[in-house]
Amino acid sequence: MRFLKLFMVLLFIALPLAAFAAEKKANSIDELAKMYDSSSCKKCHAEIYAQWEKSHHARSLMGVKGGLMLTPLALKKGTPGSTAFSEDDPKKMTIKNFPCFKCHLPQAVISAEDSVAVELAEALLAKDSAKVGKLQITCIVCHNTKAIIHKRELGEPRKNVLYSSKAVAQHPDGKYKAVEKSAIFKDSVYCGQCHGLGPNLEFDQPFQCANLYGSYLHSYIPSGGAQTCQDCHMQKGDHLIAPNFNDDKGTSELLAKAISLDVQTLGYEWLRKAGTYISKVVVNTKITQTAGHRIPDG
Ligand code: HEC
Ligand code: HEC
Ligand code: HEC
Ligand code: HEC
Ligand code: HEC
Repeated sequence: MRFLKLFMVLLFIALPLAAFAAEKKANSIDELAKMYDSSSCKKCHAEIYAQWEKSHHARSLMGVKGGLMLTPLALKKGTPGSTAFSEDDPKKMTIKNFPCFKCHLPQAVISAEDSVAVELAEALLAKDSAKVGKLQITCIVCHNTKAIIHKRELGEPRKNVLYSSKAVAQHPDGKYKAVEKSAIFKDSVYCGQCHGLGPNLEFDQPFQCANLYGSYLHSYIPSGGAQTCQDCHMQKGDHLIAPNFNDDKGTSELLAKAISLDVQTLGYEWLRKAGTYISKVVVNTKITQTAGHRIPDG
């Protein structure tokens, strides 16, 4: 009997671990894209889907205007433009050679084999944008993978469950049958997971990319700022999450609204001595911006 109890206890401990480990990692870009595919959401959330499709999150490895900005990492080590993360053969690339995945493709860190890094490096070198473009920050990445930060208390995000600012007990999607409430969806820390505090010091070769969340926390909030990233960037649930740098007109309009330049001038002539007038001008400029952080970032 005692043995049976012990066995049951062990079984219960083993089950959840087994369920997690049983999930096979993706061996190819197509497999990884399929695991985090959110095309099923389009049918019912058409407007949000259309906004997301135009957003930078939907092309997180593509770079501005299709610039394939991860290419330097795939270049042969030591050649012009290569980086400390480059290898002398793209076949040697691993997930660790792309520390950028931490924010640009978090699903690769937990669900991809090194073969995905090799395939990506080869696709970058071949300028195969169609293939690179399959890797995105999809609805699933935001509404599942990045939905829980206090994992010691709350555990990992569960399979086939979505998380959002409110729960939906019966969610009619074929795979994601419930939406649970996440504590962070309305908070800036949610975006701060990827929008950076400063240099990424945890890697064996530190580097810096986005650090706007640092500026938000240490400048905007201490100066009395009270809005969240979502308040300013996701009004009415807008998933374009502008600016969209591929849209020059939209970006200029946003910037024109966000940045104001006040110029006051005073022109006069200075009577230095009788009959000698020297032209002078005083120009006062004041640039203000309404963002909750420094712009531009980076
Ligand atoms: C068959 C239709 C259908 C499909 C497919 C579907 N949804 Fe939903 N979704 C709904 C409905 C209906 C609600 C509930 C709306 C409500 O009660 O406010 C909902 C609610 C949600 C919510 C919670 C909304 C909130 O207010 O916080 C999220 C998040 C969500 N869906 C994401 C997704 C994602 C991601 C997918 C794709 C994996 C998806 N949905 C697929 C119909 C669908
Ligand atoms: C801490 C998270 C984080 C890490 C790590 C990170 N990035 Fe970024 N990166 C971002 C975010 C967020 C943006 C967009 C927002 C911004 O620029 O403020 C961005 C923007 C960029 C841009 C400019 C926009 C574009 O698409 O052309 C480039 C280039 C870039 N990242 C390259 C890299 C490379 C290369 C690495 C790895 C060596 C990397 N990033 C690692 C978060 C990160
Ligand atoms: C960059 C992360 C991110 C991505 C990508 C993303 N979402 Fe969201 N989504 C959020 C956040 C954050 C909120 C909560 C916003 C708020 O409450 O202010 C949200 C809210 C929602 C809501 C509730 C909207 C409302 O009006 O109340 C739905 C539904 C939803 N998302 C569906 C989707 C679908 C479908 C996709 C893919 C097409 C998607 N999301 C992609 C972060 C994301
Ligand atoms: C999973 C990581 C992740 C999360 C979570 C995330 N972002 Fe991003 N975001 C990125 C990356 C990476 C880019 C840049 C993609 C590219 O290279 O163009 C980006 C781009 C953007 C951009 C476009 C401007 C630019 O420089 O590319 C805005 C604005 C933005 N994010 C705001 C937000 C807000 C607001 C939230 C929270 C609701 C959020 N993001 C959540 C990773 C993330
Ligand atoms: C008070 C409103 C406000 C808050 C709060 C805010 N933003 Fe912004 N954000 C803006 C404005 C305005 C711009 C400038 C618009 C533009 O560049 O076209 C901007 C620009 C950006 C950009 C583009 C940066 C670049 O290099 O040009 C990113 C990325 C971004 N915000 C992300 C965030 C994230 C993440 C948070 C929360 C940590 C946040 N924002 C909080 C208003 C805000």
